[in-house]
Amino acid sequence: MEVFGHLDQILDYSWSQLANAPNQRRHSWRTAVVANLVGQRVLQRTVVLRKAIASKRLLRFYTDIRSTKIQPLPNNGSFSWLFYDPRRQIQLRLQTKATLIQGDEAQEVWGRINPHTIKDYASISAPGTVVESGSVPLYPRSEQELLQRAKENFVVMDCKADEMEFLQLHRDGHRRARFTWEEEAGQWNASWLVP
Ligand SMILES: Cc1cc2nc3c(=O)[nH]c(=O)nc-3n(C[C@H](O)[C@H](O)[C@H](O)COP(=O)(O)O)c2cc1C
Repeated sequence: MEVFGHLDQILDYSWSQLANAPNQRRHSWRTAVVANLVGQRVLQRTVVLRKAIASKRLLRFYTDIRSTKIQPLPNNGSFSWLFYDPRRQIQLRLQTKATLIQGDEAQEVWGRINPHTIKDYASISAPGTVVESGSVPLYPRSEQELLQRAKENFVVMDCKADEMEFLQLHRDGHRRARFTWEEEAGQWNASWLVP
């Protein structure tokens, strides 16, 4: 891959990769590391990027409402996303504010989720609860109860980006750029940075 020469190219490239990643199983940006402050500690975890929309500056993941990362939704919902493409040696870090989507909008997404993933939201105890052994029943026995429980626990997290930092390591010269959202102007303010 060529090294990037223009800030606009970097912005377009980054958002088009993010938009495509959820639909491409092997895309390296289909999963990301997402970090936030939980109490006094920074916690990171891997999540699947479910949707990205450039015009809305949106990154979406799904989770269980009982999970540590959002119980309670801490620190104004500030989440940092990190994507890495090892083949192109590109790292993308985005600062976002998360909104928890529940109710009708979440149920509409729920109607379209992969049936194989339903169980992920149906555990009897909250994710992260200590259990005594692997033989403890983790999920409701009846299919109906399992479905009901999963539906109640499922939430969509919509994260709106206000800063984005791109780094490309390249033998012809590394490239690092920062994009900061200017609310009044309604556009990204871009600058090159020392890599
Ligand atoms: C490949 C992979 C994908 C994952 N995707 C998600 C996800 O989309 N949403 C989620 O809540 N957890 C996902 N997890 C689990 C999280 O990494 C994490 O263990 C869990 O959400 C608990 O995090 P927390 O205790 O910080 O809330 C994924 C884990 C892996 C290994």
